[in-house]
Amino acid sequence: DDLDAFIAGLPKAELHLHIEGSLEPEQMFEFARRNGVAIPFDTVEAVRAAYAFSNLQDFLDIYYAGAAVLRTEADFRDLALAYFERAAADGVRHAEIFFDPQTHTHRGIAFGTVAEGLLAGMAEAETRLGVTSQLILCFLRHLDEADAFKTLAEAEPWLDRIAGIGLDSSELGHPPSKFARVFSAAVEKGLKRVAHAGEEGPAAYVHEALDLLGIDRLDHGNRSLDDPVLVTRLARTGMTLTVCPLSNVKLCNVPAIDAHPIDRMLALGLRATVNSDDPAYFGGYIGENYRAVARGRGLDKGQLAMLARNSFLGSFLPDDAVATHC
Ligand code: ADE
Ligand code: ZN
Repeated sequence: DDLDAFIAGLPKAELHLHIEGSLEPEQMFEFARRNGVAIPFDTVEAVRAAYAFSNLQDFLDIYYAGAAVLRTEADFRDLALAYFERAAADGVRHAEIFFDPQTHTHRGIAFGTVAEGLLAGMAEAETRLGVTSQLILCFLRHLDEADAFKTLAEAEPWLDRIAGIGLDSSELGHPPSKFARVFSAAVEKGLKRVAHAGEEGPAAYVHEALDLLGIDRLDHGNRSLDDPVLVTRLARTGMTLTVCPLSNVKLCNVPAIDAHPIDRMLALGLRATVNSDDPAYFGGYIGENYRAVARGRGLDKGQLAMLARNSFLGSFLPDDAVATHC
């Protein structure tokens, strides 16, 4: 309908996308076949049927298992390109994509294989589709500080092509404070800093991400709404929240899409954006996320345009590039 056409036509930036979470079941079979990797499913339908999660950890267990089919530079390039094709079709002009190097280095895939493959896909997306992109290296927070430092050292030859660092994986029990020293080391290397916080974890973890990690952007941040002082702080400082509506429903952090707080966030003066998180696992790419909140919350064109504009304002693009998109 009219609103769907309006959403499709809005230029967007995607700021919260795990590239490993864009691995579609069809591609999982293809990579498994060409790499001779066994997967515990017979059909694409059986894979999709397994994507019923009651919390973040349920999802992560399946997501890390799925990543085992990714082995070569070509796999990472093809994975990235397939994402950019879908994103471009949804009106994405710029994407800042997360990758989880430890998921791969821990099973013997070199950091460079992952990085070079993704960078090749990003370069091709820019020339072929006109979609610009940047890479964000995420540390897995269920692993220890030493492993994160080791990963940062492995990344050294590629740091001129990596925009920033992030923090993801199992949130509860792994507060931002665990990675304060790694984040300090990264800022000295000129890297931007983002972190998942307040997805399942409490508002206190968002305070820690601000105070101890010095984040430039907040991934999810939903639980900030429990803390009025924090909401005021986030609004006053113009902090961007990378909100992921379908992810929130699939991981049972929000009971249903029509109960999603996206419009409440905007009304509170928070710079909220709409993103897809792990689209192959959560039922849709960025356009699907916009349409879901538009229908579920009755958003008007002004609110939708504000969300899209926020995505460029919250990006790591230079001001002149932001101006060309807004
Ligand atoms: N890794 C991939 N998706 C994630 C999410 N939504 N939260 C934490 N870690 C993740
Ligand atoms: Zn995420």
